[in-house]
Amino acid sequence: MNSASTTSADATWPSWVLVVAAVLVSGLLLAGPALRRRYPVAWWLLAGFPAVALRVASTWRPLMAGCGLAMSRRPALTVVSGLVGNGAAPPQPRVPRLGLIRPTAGGFWLLVRLLPGQVPEDFVKAGPAMAEDWGVHAVRVTSWKPGVVRIAASAADPLAAPRIPRTRGPGQLLRVTVGALETGAAWVVDLRRVPHWLIVGATRSGKSTLINALVAGLAPQPVALVGIDCKGGMELSLYEPRLSALATNREQAVRLLAALVDLTLDRMTVCRAARVRNIWGLPEKERPVPVVVIVDEIAELFLVASRNEKDEAQAAGTALIRLAQLGAALGVFLVVAGQRVGSDLGPGVTALRAQLGGRVCHRVADPGTAEMALGDLNPDALKAAQAITPEQAGTAVLASGDGWERARSHLITEADAESIAAEYSHLTPNLSDLHVEAL
Ligand SMILES: Nc1ncnc2c1ncn2[C@@H]1O[C@H](COP(=O)(O)OP(=O)(O)OP(=O)(O)O)[C@@H](O)[C@H]1O
Ligand SMILES: [Mg+2]
Repeated sequence: MNSASTTSADATWPSWVLVVAAVLVSGLLLAGPALRRRYPVAWWLLAGFPAVALRVASTWRPLMAGCGLAMSRRPALTVVSGLVGNGAAPPQPRVPRLGLIRPTAGGFWLLVRLLPGQVPEDFVKAGPAMAEDWGVHAVRVTSWKPGVVRIAASAADPLAAPRIPRTRGPGQLLRVTVGALETGAAWVVDLRRVPHWLIVGATRSGKSTLINALVAGLAPQPVALVGIDCKGGMELSLYEPRLSALATNREQAVRLLAALVDLTLDRMTVCRAARVRNIWGLPEKERPVPVVVIVDEIAELFLVASRNEKDEAQAAGTALIRLAQLGAALGVFLVVAGQRVGSDLGPGVTALRAQLGGRVCHRVADPGTAEMALGDLNPDALKAAQAITPEQAGTAVLASGDGWERARSHLITEADAESIAAEYSHLTPNLSDLHVEAL
């Protein structure tokens, strides 16, 4: 009796397992897209990564051979093995050994030791082929240490929809998270580390959106914001309640910039008297408020039609360069945006560019502007900037002396920026020396 019931249970359990498995699989298939959207990281780690890792391991040898990264054995060895091996296949070419494949939140990375005679650039060139072969969005190859390269792959474009952090507060002084980097990390603009910025991009490429994100982050902080918008104030007047001064034409801009230079020189006198090298060395109570000067459309300041305008443009250019030279130590920071930033705007532009260490290049209409923004720092970044499409508004290439990165700003709309500026209008420092009407 007992044995009969065991037998019938034995006969039925596989069908139960099959039913449960079928339900689970069909449930996963049905709920998959929703789960993937809701828990992208968990989905990638549990389902995407194992499949891609398997693919990387199984196609590594042919991929290396196809990219010219395999090395054939010495001919003598092949001949000897042909003689001794009785027609057996000659030894396979040597390929670089595949390191451990390690997952990240949206991709994976691995280290590869180079074979004798190989250089990291050989692998950099093979990056696009690796991305195609593994079915991932992009592969970046960097030198890890002598003889070893790091291959990092991102499964999907992390900049397609960067997640906006939920909390918005004052945070660290002069430090703002404005978007996301391609690595998935936060894109942070830290004015104390890099005091002056040049933001370029064609029309509707995302310059003002980036400025919105910057203003939204700075508005809750104890800083003064000053706007120069010679497009008649169309862009920056949104934040007027939070601005300590706003110039909307070139004449006002020249006066405002001259007043800013005076303010900077006054601060210099204060620092010299206190025997400190910058305002951060002053006691907190005596420290003047940091001033962030935002210039939207630099070309409006520099382009001239008449002789009179030429003098104004020159005065504006000289004042900006002086601010950039002196400002970092004295708490005056520049954020300069423009569609076209070329030497045709005047000799001052090249000198100003040299002072603006932070560079952000959105999609550009002419290669000259990308070159102006990135070329002197990093020629590789130029190609990446020229590959940005109009659909990817807000995407930009960031360059500094150490290298370059792709990033995308958070979409802070004009309405958001406007309401944030109004919300923090009570924090607007009153810098009466800068009021354009009174200047
Ligand atoms: N980070 C982003 N994410 C998604 N969409 C964006 C982003 N940045 C910009 N856009 C889209 O692109 C549009 C144009 O952006 P924005 O106004 O910032 O361009 P701009 O470079 O300032 O142009 P202009 O030179 O004409 O002033 C925005 O209205 C928005 O729809
Ligand atoms: Mg704009």
